[in-house]
Amino acid sequence: MDILPFFFISFKLLFLFCEFSGAAETISSSQYLSDGNTLVSKNGTFELGFFSPGSSKNRYLGIWYKKIPVQTVVWVANRLSPINDSSGLLMINSTGNLVLTSQNKTVVWSTNLTSEVQNPVMAELLDSGNFVLRDEQVGNSETFLWQSFDYPSDTLLPEMKLGWDFKNGLERRLTAWKSPDDPSPGDFIWRLELQGYPEPILLKGSEKVYRSGPWNGLGFSGAEAMMSNPDFIFNMVSNEEELYYSFSITDKSLITRIVLNQTGYVRQRIAWSEGTESWNVYSYVPRDYCDNYGTCGPYGYCITSKTPICQCLKGFKPKSGENLDWQGCVRNKPLNYSNKDGFVKFSELKLPDASETWVNNSMNLKECREKCLQNSSCMAYTNSDIRGAGSGCAMWFGDLIDIRNIQNGGQDLYMRMSASELETEDDHKTKILVITAIVVAVTAGVLIVSYCIHKKCIYKSRANTEENSLEMHQEREELELPMFDLATIAKATNKFSFCNKLGEGGFGVVYQGTLADGQEIAVKRLSNISGQGLNELKNEVTLIAKLQHRNLVKLFGCCIEGEEKLLIYELMPNKSLDYFIFDQTRSKLLNWSKRFNIICGIARGLLYLHQDSRLRIIHRDLKTSNVLLDHEMNPKISDFGLAKTFCGNQTEANTKRVVGTYGYMAPEYASEGLFSAKSDVFSFGILLLEILSGVRNRGFYHPENGLNLTGYAWKLWNENKPSELIDPVLGESCNISEVIRCIHISLLCVQQYPVDRPNMSSVVLMLGSDNVLPQPKQPGFLMSRNKLEPGLSSGDSGLTSKNEITISLLEAR
Ligand SMILES: *[C@@H]1O[C@H](CO)[C@@H](O)[C@H](O)[C@H]1NC(C)=O
Ligand SMILES: *[C@@H]1O[C@H](CO)[C@@H](O)[C@H](O)[C@H]1NC(C)=O
Ligand SMILES: *[C@@H]1O[C@H](CO)[C@@H](O)[C@H](O)[C@H]1NC(C)=O
Repeated sequence: MDILPFFFISFKLLFLFCEFSGAAETISSSQYLSDGNTLVSKNGTFELGFFSPGSSKNRYLGIWYKKIPVQTVVWVANRLSPINDSSGLLMINSTGNLVLTSQNKTVVWSTNLTSEVQNPVMAELLDSGNFVLRDEQVGNSETFLWQSFDYPSDTLLPEMKLGWDFKNGLERRLTAWKSPDDPSPGDFIWRLELQGYPEPILLKGSEKVYRSGPWNGLGFSGAEAMMSNPDFIFNMVSNEEELYYSFSITDKSLITRIVLNQTGYVRQRIAWSEGTESWNVYSYVPRDYCDNYGTCGPYGYCITSKTPICQCLKGFKPKSGENLDWQGCVRNKPLNYSNKDGFVKFSELKLPDASETWVNNSMNLKECREKCLQNSSCMAYTNSDIRGAGSGCAMWFGDLIDIRNIQNGGQDLYMRMSASELETEDDHKTKILVITAIVVAVTAGVLIVSYCIHKKCIYKSRANTEENSLEMHQEREELELPMFDLATIAKATNKFSFCNKLGEGGFGVVYQGTLADGQEIAVKRLSNISGQGLNELKNEVTLIAKLQHRNLVKLFGCCIEGEEKLLIYELMPNKSLDYFIFDQTRSKLLNWSKRFNIICGIARGLLYLHQDSRLRIIHRDLKTSNVLLDHEMNPKISDFGLAKTFCGNQTEANTKRVVGTYGYMAPEYASEGLFSAKSDVFSFGILLLEILSGVRNRGFYHPENGLNLTGYAWKLWNENKPSELIDPVLGESCNISEVIRCIHISLLCVQQYPVDRPNMSSVVLMLGSDNVLPQPKQPGFLMSRNKLEPGLSSGDSGLTSKNEITISLLEAR
């Protein structure tokens, strides 16, 4: 008996509906939207309608950017239930819900309002890309009955929330499309994991494959890409009702989105100005091999600059002993599980997996330590918020996993250690103290003696002092760099606009700009997050200020105002060498004589750094992206931030902080941290091979024998067919004997043992003469890293992909 009135109502409603047409932004309860018509948001940014993805014929209801020519869909309603013809209709039904129907009024998708609606309902597409249902009477309020932002597809738009709404029992997460033709949920999920110390994680099915690290007040502990920077602001909200993160953009005219792609990368993409042809990737995670979840097992420590990449933290040893099969690490000394345990501080870390954590934001570090000590399952603690001096308390229970090194960033972690482990350390410290005491005593003795001698030579010494003060004066004068004020540079770079951005490195962004007098400049803007950055900056300013050579990039000046630290260089109009030689089309612009000129220029620049300048400088990060090109394609070496000055005859040094770029690092530097002019020679040799072959050493992987570029060159050399290495693009322009000579020189440079490698002055001589060259010995690093590290596939791992694991300062371009 109930059927009749229902029939009557629906009949009446249908009767009242009229077809929607034209470009309005709303659908009222008496309209419907059919396939072929669209809704457009008020200022024309977004459009909603029916579409077919890729080569598919299926129809889906979705939202895309109206002004971007490449249809970029940001939301799909009926992901799981496509319509196979153009019969789709979208309308608001009698209960106030949005329904999508296909033939014969079959409902393929609908909203599910929980509360009953009193007044008529309307649907509106907002300029933010949010499709909302609201009470017609309430009008332009921010309260919605339903919103598409609560049901994300694979895209996060600015102001959209990723995370939890506890009040309404909602979780907003991204799910990748199955394929470009199929928007149904694919393998990958990006969600905010709900636990003591929440963090976004990437799931493949139900398996965790990446985590960004927990929110530390400034960003996510292990994802530099997801920290607030001059262009983007990341924000985390945590209260009783909600827990989510979102992002926004400082320059509202830019179009940007975060998208989870089908191969499991969370990419921040950006398009600017109307009519842009394509999207650019601004940044993405995961970034490298160490980002793979749990790569190094429990208590293992992943560090990209070491071979092998997995290490044990101090106080731990490999679980598998000498066995090559890595299974993580175990303690050298078992814990006492009592107050007798202590803590050891580790720095520059991505904090371990936070699935078993406990957080209290009002405790301080000391209280945190006490609480951790009292609880026998607490394995580590640290500040939960690193802003300022740090505050709050986060504690970890159970085994610690997925710890990696973050060079020049990362966080401190205090790890529980047994008293006996701490004692051995104390012992060690005592020893050092005793030794120091002896050294001090001896030095004091020497000083006293020399003081007496000094008294005797008082006349001589007076003359010396005068000389010294003269030298110091000179030094200070040389250090006087033109200082620019911030307003000038902000104006020159359009207030550091995204469109002026040239590139990005670990410390911030490089912009191009034009001064009022027309001078073009490149500006390195150091992000203010890292304390270490300031030292590197000072190092770089001081060094470059002293260097003048036509194959080195010129520093115009700097600007230090408050938080802002900027370096101003001459702009190199032709970008960097890698931009040309690894690109199929652009590489044609560099024929052999140009390439030879570039090779000789780099060699002279490096020789100047090593020998001819008053300081002896090791570059430590020589690579194609650090070789910039001027109008006439003359090479100029850039990025001296990592350079170390040597005084007098010191030729070799040891460093704990290995900086540099994989693929260019000499074996003794990569594995032992030993660097010298000869490790720069090694990098030069690699660079030479790349220029000759047009192939990246890092990306190169010989499928048959696993050789890298060096190994392959060595093989061809021994088989007496070195010419097979030559970049085919060079073709006719080649001077074959010159090219073969260069291959010969490069092989001399990449020899395994530093003593065998020539120094830069010999290299310059060899390049400029026809003298007979010595036979090269075996190079270092013959095999591709893939062969050396079990479990590293050549396919989609970070190491073989295009992104370089640069552990360096900015890459100026
Ligand atoms: C839909 O209606 C058509 C004719 O109007 C009919 O041939 C078809 O079988 C119906 N399909 C369904 C699924 O009811
Ligand atoms: C996903 O993003 C990564 C990183 O930018 C990229 O290398 C990969 O090709 C992308 N996959 C697809 C299917 O677009
Ligand atoms: C240690 O802390 C955890 C988490 O707060 C708690 O579940 C456990 O009961 C504590 N254990 C002891 C011995 O206090």
